[in-house]
Formats: sequence, C-alpha cells, structure tokens
Amino acid sequence: MKVLVVGGSGFIGSALCRELKERGHDVTTLSRSPSSEDLPKGVNKVMGNVTDYGSIRGAFEGMDAVYNLVALSPLFKPNGGDQMHDRIHRKGTEHVVRAAEKHDVGHLVQMSALGADPDGPTAYIRSKGEAEEIVTESVLDYTIFRPSVVFGEGGEFISFTKLLAPPYLSALPGGGKTRFQPIWVGDLVPMLADAIESDDHVGQIYEIGGPDKLTLAEIARMIHKSDGRSTTVVPVPMGLAKVGLTIGDAIPGFPMGKDQYRSLQFDNVTSDNDVGAFGVGVGELTTLESYLNGRTGEADAAAAATTSG
Ligand SMILES: NC(=O)c1ccc[n+]([C@@H]2O[C@H](COP(=O)([O-])OP(=O)(O)OC[C@H]3O[C@@H](n4cnc5c(N)ncnc54)[C@H](OP(=O)(O)O)[C@@H]3O)[C@@H](O)[C@H]2O)c1
Repeated sequence: MKVLVVGGSGFIGSALCRELKERGHDVTTLSRSPSSEDLPKGVNKVMGNVTDYGSIRGAFEGMDAVYNLVALSPLFKPNGGDQMHDRIHRKGTEHVVRAAEKHDVGHLVQMSALGADPDGPTAYIRSKGEAEEIVTESVLDYTIFRPSVVFGEGGEFISFTKLLAPPYLSALPGGGKTRFQPIWVGDLVPMLADAIESDDHVGQIYEIGGPDKLTLAEIARMIHKSDGRSTTVVPVPMGLAKVGLTIGDAIPGFPMGKDQYRSLQFDNVTSDNDVGAFGVGVGELTTLESYLNGRTGEADAAAAATTSG
C-alpha cells in the first residue's frame, strides 16, 4: 500500500514508519523538517506544515492510507491561550481530512489521546476531542487510537518524570496518586500498522494502554530504582500545587504549568483496554519495569540496528 505518515518523523512516527516499511508498504512521511537521521532507510520525505493546507495537499495524491500523528506535546505550555493546540490539533486535522477527502484516500488513522473530549479540562484534551469530531464527521474510513502515555527510545515520558520527580525527594501534587497506563512504543506500532491492513478496524475508536495501571509516585520510584537511586515522595496539596504551577506557566523551562496541573487531577487509564482487537493479550505487553531493567531496551536497539544504515 502507499502510505503517508503525517508527523512520521517524531517519536511514535519514526517507529511506525519502520514497522510499515518492514511490512512492505511504500511509506512517505510529512513534517515541517523531516530528517533522514530520524527515519528508517527507504522512507520518502515531504516537507509540509499542517497549519498551511497548500503545503500538504499534494502529498496525499495516490495514497491508500494516511496516518495523522502531528502533535504538540501535552507538556507544551500554551502561554496566554489555547490557540496553538487549536491550530495544530483541530485546524491541522481539518486540513489533513480535507486533503484526504480530495484525493479519495481509502483510510485515515487518527492519533488521539485518552480522555479526548471537546469539553475536557485541558487545551490538549479539548483540541484532541475536536479533532476526533472532524474525523468521525468526514466521509473517510477512519480508525482512532487513544493511547495512554507511550514510552520507549526517543520518548519524553521517562525524562519528563525524572524532571518532575527528581531523585531523593519528589514533591508531587496530591502525592503523585494520578494513575497512568504506560504502553511501550514497540507494542503500540504493530497495532497502528494492523489498523490499515484489515477492514475490521474501520469506524473504531480504540483505547490503548499498557499492562499496568501505575500511580505517578510508583512510576517515579520505578524509574529511579532502575538508575540505582531512590526517591521519597512528599505530597503537595493540590491547592498549593495549583498556585505554584500557575507561576510555573510563566517560567521558561519549568516542567509544569496550569494545564499540566489540571491533567494530574484525572487518571490517564483505559476504561476497557482494546489491545484485544489486535489479537494481543494484556499479559503479552511489555511492562515499564521490564523495559527499564533493560530487556526491551536491548530489543529496541537491535531493531534500530537492523533497519538503519
Ligand atoms: N508520546 C506519547 O506519550 C503519546 C501519548 C498519547 C498520544 N500521543 C499522540 O501520538 C502522536 C505522536 O506523538 P509523538 O510523541 O510521536 O509526538 P512527537 O515526537 O512530538 O512527533 C510529532 C511529529 O509531528 C510533526 N509536526 C509537529 N508540528 C507539525 C506541523 N505543524 N506540521 C507538520 N508536522 C508537524 C513533527 O515533526 P516536525 O517538528 O519536523 O514538524 C513530528 O514528526 C500525537 O498525536 C500525540 O498526541 C502521544
């Protein structure tokens, strides 16, 4: 199949391009500055910006399937407004859908996020919800993925957790009780690739999570333990955290702001983990702990070594 991966040079996108290439598809990636260093050999590169329809429409011609993976990180702090999330997620998706419809693309896979909701609590979640509405109201065959946090080589989840909850002493809002369901990128991308290979996935919205539901405090301890360190979690009352993180909005480089504070008030876990739709049992998925202890990291490195160069 001819496949376009919009946002294919990022963390999940580059792993997906590798998987699609290995399955024999003709893969093109589109992003603002696609670099060969981020992409497996043989992937075509197109430069474009989803906020500018004219810059992306030509890339959709002749494509059988398109993935939309473009994102602003949920860690992005929208100083003074939600416009950036709206431009990239909602308006960007509108442009992707318009181009896909114009060129009769057979299947669109939209990367969303757990909790996506136009009336949700953060700019990220609201714009993801609005983007989903654009996709489901289109004439396209679609599949929507709503993953929890994704970890693996090149991802920012582990490094961000270390920043938020440093070794030795971690002052976490609410004691770090918010739950996440981290999934390994190496488990997620085969499901993404399967989505375009069977009509069973058309019209489906999948909530996808890893094997364990872990609190932020548990994740922080696990990450530091794998580095041979420990951390003691000191709870910061949510009200006090809100004040501190509101100030954090204005400090460049500070890891948290108001939206990140709000996102810590809601668990990021599936109500019903849909990995079974891809013939995968929850028990077969890679745990964060086993990844941290190096076993899957070695598999990651081996996979990268076989496809690069
Ligand atoms: N990582 C996670 O834990 C996680 C969890 C849940 C959902 N998701 C979703 O999964 C998707 C991929 O996430 P990721 O972690 O792989 O993100 P990422 O590493 O930040 O990659 C984003 C990609 O989008 C491209 N991009 C950004 N702005 C663009 C624009 N205006 N026009 C065209 N391309 C643009 C980037 O390349 P350039 O910078 O070169 O343009 C890059 O290829 C996103 O939709 C994200 O919301 C991720």
